[in-house]
Amino acid sequence: MTSKKLSVPSLKKLSSKKTGPIPDAVKQHTLPNSKVGKPYRITFRGDARNVTNLLDSGNHQAGLMSIPDACVDLVVTSPPYWKKRDYGFENQIGQEPTPEKYVDQIIDAMKAWRRILRPAASIFINVGDTYWRKSLQGVPSLIEAAARNAGWKVRNRIIWVKKSGMPDPAKDRLASRHEYVLHFAMGDYYYDLFGYAERYSVDQRGANPGDVWELGAELELGEHLAAFPTEIARRAILLACPNEVCSKCFQPRQRIVERTHELDLARPQARRAIELAKLNNLTLEHFAAIRATGISDAGKARHVQTGTDRNTEKVQKLAQEAKAALGGYFREFTFAKKRSVGWSSCACNAKFVPGVVLDPFMGTGTTLDVANELGRSAIGIDLSSTTLKRL
Ligand SMILES: C[S@@+](CC[C@H](N)C(=O)[O-])C[C@H]1O[C@@H](n2cnc3c(N)ncnc32)[C@H](O)[C@@H]1O
Repeated sequence: MTSKKLSVPSLKKLSSKKTGPIPDAVKQHTLPNSKVGKPYRITFRGDARNVTNLLDSGNHQAGLMSIPDACVDLVVTSPPYWKKRDYGFENQIGQEPTPEKYVDQIIDAMKAWRRILRPAASIFINVGDTYWRKSLQGVPSLIEAAARNAGWKVRNRIIWVKKSGMPDPAKDRLASRHEYVLHFAMGDYYYDLFGYAERYSVDQRGANPGDVWELGAELELGEHLAAFPTEIARRAILLACPNEVCSKCFQPRQRIVERTHELDLARPQARRAIELAKLNNLTLEHFAAIRATGISDAGKARHVQTGTDRNTEKVQKLAQEAKAALGGYFREFTFAKKRSVGWSSCACNAKFVPGVVLDPFMGTGTTLDVANELGRSAIGIDLSSTTLKRL
């Protein structure tokens, strides 16, 4: 795919070849600054399982459109849950007679999205479970199992804990206060854990923030009771949608992270380590040597290390001096903070364009709003014209 296929005009060109012209209305649904290189927003009316036969969301002109191959970096979506809300229109997902038949529909949809996903793309699906005939059906685990069978890797089962929830009339069980956000990938995928942890790590030290998302209630948007919190979309996008991709090879730009010499002064041990380092006149070279050797190299491991990774004698000597001066506080310097110093580029020498998020069950467009707010382009699909008219 060439860079031009990203832009709205080329969507038109490609689709018109296959399925007829994209109406001008598509242009009306783009952001004012939706040139190549700026985030855009496009919404379609159609079935999430068939991304080659879509109508422009305003339905201003007839003609089916196709989303081009490999143009999406991340899917963030929340399909209708099984046997919950009956949207009352043909081809809706969610009212199948059994959970297994529902899961088949979700897997069909995921299969259809593969064509339009870029190689480093992945999928976040928010889904809840259902009580049916007095028993929880385990729908999220059925989706996981079926997705695994279809070749997807289940990368995370995130538990969305609801700080508050709708009243539950049940008298013989506890009210349900959580849902799932399942993360699926096909192969290696873009993931900015560093940037995410900087924002969400509880201890502010960049530790992995974990797979539980405790979120407060957000105001419901109009009549659409099934809107999900913006924070779900925000977290998924920050984790797995590149800020920018190359407009020629579509490789995501990866964050470049560097170790600093800075220690975390919130830790008393770090403060003591700095004191000892000053007293003993340790230099930046010593700190670099500590990090090069690591904790293990200062002990038994230095006798058994072999191979090309072995540290030079000079580095080992500096590390030994540091060890003698710092004792147990030596290890503090192996925790020196990392910082983000830029973004990778490729050899194409082409311009970079925003990453693209797709929500194939877009509802009120929460995902699209958040994607645009975060500088990503957004494509939305929904079967309901009522939903789309409200956007
Ligand atoms: C749970 S809601 C999505 C809510 C959305 N995350 C939001 O924040 O508003 C599910 C949406 O899927 C749509 N839908 C149902 N079946 C569909 C299908 N087969 N293809 C596309 N959309 C469908 C419904 O119209 C509904 O808007």
